[in-house]
Amino acid sequence: MISLKKAIDLIQKGEIVAIPTETVYGLAADAFNVNAVKKIFDQKGRPADNPLIVHISKFNQLKQLAVEFPKDVEKLAERFWPGPLSIILKKKSRVPDIVTGGLDTVAIRMPDHPITLSLLNKTGPLTAPSANKSGRPSPTKPTHILEDFGPELPILDGGTSKLGLESTVLDMSRDQLTILRPGFITTDAISITLGKKVVMMGDFDEETLKKSPGTRFTHYKPKASVQWFSGNEEDIVDIGAYYLFHSSIRPSDEYKNIYSYNRDYDLFARDLYDHFRTADYLSCKVIYIEPFERDLNHPLIPALKDRIEKAANS
Ligand code: TXA
Ligand code: MG
Repeated sequence: MISLKKAIDLIQKGEIVAIPTETVYGLAADAFNVNAVKKIFDQKGRPADNPLIVHISKFNQLKQLAVEFPKDVEKLAERFWPGPLSIILKKKSRVPDIVTGGLDTVAIRMPDHPITLSLLNKTGPLTAPSANKSGRPSPTKPTHILEDFGPELPILDGGTSKLGLESTVLDMSRDQLTILRPGFITTDAISITLGKKVVMMGDFDEETLKKSPGTRFTHYKPKASVQWFSGNEEDIVDIGAYYLFHSSIRPSDEYKNIYSYNRDYDLFARDLYDHFRTADYLSCKVIYIEPFERDLNHPLIPALKDRIEKAANS
């Protein structure tokens, strides 16, 4: 664990540092330092054509990154920044290709975490993917980062991530406003703010595959197989499995690895990746998750479903 002062110093020297955000921890480098950004890809084992999100602390910093910013960007920034919304815009040529995986667009967000905002004020734009090895779940606590990278990697400790799921990714570079990754900021919230239609990406349409490389890569797949739980309490029969219920199912105490959330979806989202890591740590063979009812309309459901389905299918 390092101090803010040390983190500023390391970033300015071209090193990488794990930083807290309200969604998940990021692995940060100076967005304009190609050698520093390369260290992120090397450390994570991340494919070179999977682009990174650039983090800023002031609206003005957008000018260093994007060619143009329509009024709609201002409206979204005013309403949702700092916060869990990444916006994709046409990039300026000074943004290195390594950051954007060769695309002519760049994803940008202003994270809502006081320590990281102070850091960004001093360093300027930092590019940061989630601070996990490729294929592992995003880290929501410093111990998760330690698990993946060992004690050598400097970590700026900002406690447990408040939200626990990655930001919403909104592509504003297409004709149609398109959500590439669902998150806390919903399609409806964006649509109402702008008074415009916003679509959720078609799973595998060609434009999406081309423009959102993230959808192409293998996502986190725990060693345990993630499955939707079918049935009732009586079907909780596998003593070596891990069970996650979002409603209030809670059978006898004979089973240890059963968690239920009484419909507290905020808490469920915050804990999800920690459960994935714990289940693997305990060598559980299966993680059963209670399916979400069709008519459930909590704003977090699309994001939760997305992450669980990716873990189940990849
Ligand atoms: O909440 C978050 O967004 C966290 C914290 C650290 O800010 N970051 C994060 O980064 O989740 P990462 O790299 O794990 O996910 C970024 C996603 C990837 O799916 C990537 O493909 C997509 O955003 N992305 C980034 N730039 C893009 C671009 N120019 N066009 C399309 N997709 C892009
Ligand atoms: Mg990631």
